[in-house]
Amino acid sequence: MKKLYLQRYTDNQRINHWLVVVLFGLAGFSGLALFHPNLFFLTQFFGGPQWTRIVHPYFGIGVFVLFLFMFFMFVGANLWRKSDTQWVKDAPKLVLDNDESQMPPVGKYNAGQKLVFWSMTLCLLVLLGTGLLFWQAWFATDVPIPVQRVAVLLHSLAAFIMSLTAVVHIYAAIWVKGTLRAMTQGTVTSGWAKRHHSLWYREKVQQSIDRAPGGQ
Ligand code: HEM
Repeated sequence: MKKLYLQRYTDNQRINHWLVVVLFGLAGFSGLALFHPNLFFLTQFFGGPQWTRIVHPYFGIGVFVLFLFMFFMFVGANLWRKSDTQWVKDAPKLVLDNDESQMPPVGKYNAGQKLVFWSMTLCLLVLLGTGLLFWQAWFATDVPIPVQRVAVLLHSLAAFIMSLTAVVHIYAAIWVKGTLRAMTQGTVTSGWAKRHHSLWYREKVQQSIDRAPGGQ
């Protein structure tokens, strides 16, 4: 049987996403290189210790700015609804039995994806806000040392939570078969949409009926 595909992301949205991934990787590894002496060897990938220290904040700002575009494109679909709270309550059934039939119907994103989105948003805000406070080249001279110390702690904590969130995100993208192609090719099969995002599927079908000749 011929498969039907639905558009999930535009080319620009996908380019935006993969640029965030690359810069997040660069910011993450250059940050780890500065985090602990055991990870000092990572500095060789960024041109040595001095360069690592110079480029890390710029990678971070790059992630933040690029993520802002994603934030504004996807925030509407990530707003929390009553049915999301029910989805979270039912989530153990989904994880343990892999039985999606008992879950509340889902729109473009399920509650798990929404939590990932908000966790990323919050972590990036904390990373930027705290990072600026101890950026020696520009602002740190005006910031009291105790404030800088708290900022360093919160910066590391946010980076840790952000990394865990990214692991959950990547795992879910691979675990739910057929999801990766949404970000590699921009489309998903209609079967995938019907099964995992039934409300979004109905919306897309309605849109194509409306756009068809003779439609509304
Ligand atoms: C190798 C790493 C990654 C892979 C394989 C991956 C894969 C994906 C896939 C397949 C989707 C589409 C999901 C769907 O439409 O249901 C997606 C969406 C998304 N990804 Fe990633 N991703 C990766 C890393 C990241 C990173 C590092 C970030 C942020 C720093 C990120 C942020 C997002 C956001 C915001 C969305 C839109 C979904 C939403 O708003 O909830 N991704 N990703």
